[in-house]
Amino acid sequence: MLWFAQATALRRMATVMAAIMAFPLLLAEPAAAERASSYPSRPLRLIVPFAKGGPTDVVARLISPEMAKSLGQPVVVENIVGAGGTIGTLRAAQAAPDGYTLILGHMGTHAAAVALYPGLGYRPDVDFVPVALVARMPVLLLARRQFPAANLAEFVAYVRSHQDRINVAHAGVGSVSYASCMLLNHLLDINPTGVPFSGTGPAMDALVAGQVDYMCDQIVNAVLPLRTEVIKAYAVAGADRDPSVPSVPTAAEAGLPQFQVEAWNAVFAPKDTPPEVIAILNAAVVQALDRPEVREPMVGLGGVVPPRDQRTPAVLAALVSSELPKWRQALKRPAP
Ligand code: MLT
Repeated sequence: MLWFAQATALRRMATVMAAIMAFPLLLAEPAAAERASSYPSRPLRLIVPFAKGGPTDVVARLISPEMAKSLGQPVVVENIVGAGGTIGTLRAAQAAPDGYTLILGHMGTHAAAVALYPGLGYRPDVDFVPVALVARMPVLLLARRQFPAANLAEFVAYVRSHQDRINVAHAGVGSVSYASCMLLNHLLDINPTGVPFSGTGPAMDALVAGQVDYMCDQIVNAVLPLRTEVIKAYAVAGADRDPSVPSVPTAAEAGLPQFQVEAWNAVFAPKDTPPEVIAILNAAVVQALDRPEVREPMVGLGGVVPPRDQRTPAVLAALVSSELPKWRQALKRPAP
């Protein structure tokens, strides 16, 4: 009978141990529920790691007021510029994981930059929690209006024979504009002078003024200056022409099929941001993207709003995971 008493005592101990082990979870569940019910209780900030007026800033200022409507708190855009967007991105990575600091990152800050900076200071797939993909963005090859080439073939011939006398504008090492034209320059085997700006907003001002020769930029920054013909475009680096600029040929149509680039913009939160907070933030972005105040200007400027099934954190996580090796490979300088 002794064994029975021992077995009963062991069962009782196991029950007590299980309760003790479960206690933190029980405590956590009410904390999580309380957090979700009280969040957000103050304004949020959305870091844009580039200067005002550029494509990242434009997209952020389209979604932030609509996110605010869903969240019931202001979403304040904060431009933190420098180093191709990596300074602002690092600031976001180091922010408290409380759901009050977000970043609108993109293919540059959360993919290409890893291939360009050995000591980046953050890992896009580790130091951030994906919230939602916001837009896919065609990239265009743009030039100042007086650039002496009427089409892509003439552009290629000219830059190859004048590479020591031309310059290419970009938003810093690690930016979409830098990575996209770096890819193009590798394809053309040219190495022109790069002219960095704090964003392609100011870079576009210089292109319009004729102070720089060419630039690779996200379409939302190019549609209006193209329509007013203060700059010109030689190609869209995508599979299809974009309906917002139907006369611009694809790079393939224009004879350079290898020039294929697609940018994207997405909202990220610092790692360890609680999942219940991420769910609330994801819902706010999903709802914002369904509102005409966002969709109409975004589409009108050539951006592509992802369908609902592409707006989950898992889809964004998979995109970042696939883009990291892709850009590491793409930006490797081909062996001489
Ligand atoms: C980039 O080149 O990464 C962006 O277009 C810069 C910007 O949004 O200003």
